[in-house]
Amino acid sequence: MRWLKSRIDLERARHYHPPMLKRITYVSRFAKPFSESELRELGELSAKNNKDIGVTGVLMTSGGVFFQVLEGSPEAVDQVYSAIAADTRHTHLVVLELEIDVPSRNYPDWSMKTIDLDASSHVRLLPLKVMMETVFEQQLLVDKMLWAIDRTLKHELRKD
Ligand SMILES: Cc1cc2nc3c(=O)[nH]c(=O)nc-3n(C[C@H](O)[C@H](O)[C@H](O)COP(=O)(O)O)c2cc1C
Repeated sequence: MRWLKSRIDLERARHYHPPMLKRITYVSRFAKPFSESELRELGELSAKNNKDIGVTGVLMTSGGVFFQVLEGSPEAVDQVYSAIAADTRHTHLVVLELEIDVPSRNYPDWSMKTIDLDASSHVRLLPLKVMMETVFEQQLLVDKMLWAIDRTLKHELRKD
């Protein structure tokens, strides 16, 4: 009988696939200035909420821009992202990367690590500031190009 049980365990192990994760990386703009304490409160509330539903990630700010990574089960990430997208404290959300079927987390120990680059004097973090600004400028460029494509298409199609 024991051999039967271990056979069954073996079969189960063979068919077991770890649950796949989803990861969303986005940038957005502050709708209004945030004070250091407001940012801290936002980070603390986010970490608390995320812990309950197994979401991890990082929330970084610099020069009026948010950069956030959210990772967890697809349901949990969708739930948090929907709340975030509806939050009027920021605007112009642009998803930089949407990953599905991710096998492991990049930030397993952070329910929501919040980094205020404007308040940080950490020299090692300075390149991040430059990178975030560059990402945001690129995003503005993409916005402009999308607007131009849309306008041109509408204009051209009107002729048909
Ligand atoms: C840039 C930004 C990032 C946020 N990130 C999170 C987050 O990771 N987790 C979270 O629960 N809420 C986050 N929030 C807050 C949500 O938008 C929303 O206010 C919150 O989930 C509501 O929580 P409550 O129902 O407990 O009041 C974020 C808000 C902003 C503006």
